[in-house]
Amino acid sequence: MIKKCLFPAAGYGTRFLPATKAVPKEMLPILTKPLLQYGVEEALSANINNMAIVTGRGKRSIEDHFDNSLELESQLSGTSKEYYLDEIKEVIERATFTYVRQHKMLGLGHAILTGEPLIGNEPFAVILADDFFDCSGDGVISQLVKIYEKYQCSVIAIEEIDSTQVERYGIVTGDLIDGSDDTYSVTSMLEKPKLHDLIKPEEYELSSDDMPRFMAIAGRYILTPDIFSILKKINPGKHGEIQITDALKIQARAGKVIAFKYKGNRFDCGSIEGYVKATISLAKKRNII
Ligand code: UTP
Repeated sequence: MIKKCLFPAAGYGTRFLPATKAVPKEMLPILTKPLLQYGVEEALSANINNMAIVTGRGKRSIEDHFDNSLELESQLSGTSKEYYLDEIKEVIERATFTYVRQHKMLGLGHAILTGEPLIGNEPFAVILADDFFDCSGDGVISQLVKIYEKYQCSVIAIEEIDSTQVERYGIVTGDLIDGSDDTYSVTSMLEKPKLHDLIKPEEYELSSDDMPRFMAIAGRYILTPDIFSILKKINPGKHGEIQITDALKIQARAGKVIAFKYKGNRFDCGSIEGYVKATISLAKKRNII
């Protein structure tokens, strides 16, 4: 059973400066709710109640958000505005929160390793809250938990992208598992590769329609705890960062990584375009615009 979810949330969010100078990127709202709260609700809907959050300097508002605010509650108590706090109060009641600080921004792999004391020796989920998903059925973490229960190894959420986007993602190659059209046994991975790392020279001439498509890692994972000892041995890769894809590559060589094409719509809320699209999409869905 997966009982804990790790939220790496220590990044600087430079693409959203100056908004993220004093407000963590993970606390930017889509409509009225911070990105991180959507992530916590997704974990809760997968019956995961322990939230382990990797924070950094200037991120104290995250802890305040997931705590009672007695002054505000007593101010609103008995008024017509009381219900505004219902959703967050329910989250606070159902979940427990633990925190650890990442002192140096050495990449996602390093952020996950920083969370080890909060996770211990058990499989765990990882949510990158700036990847926002709109799913009509189960949330993405619930979908991954089902795959984990079947294969008992690390599971990563993937989506198909075209050749123009490969430099922005971790790219996965793998073999479809017999009888499935959405579940792959991962054979290799590359972090933000150039297109020429992925295609043969003769394929360069292909029109964009004929170019092969690629499988990109989205911000949801289930990881087995051996990932921590692997991360400890990994040398920093691109930009001096410790990449989670390098650790997963080692698990994949032992046939221990499954990639699953999640069902749902993803918005990259780490980018301004994705953030605006997510806001518009949700506002339309709720008949606000
Ligand atoms: P990003 O690279 O998208 O976040 O990392 P960022 O660095 O904050 O964004 P920009 O490029 O400066 O705008 C994905 C997730 O991993 C976390 C981030 O907080 C984000 O949720 N992260 C990344 C860490 O916790 N620590 C790191 O060292 C790097």
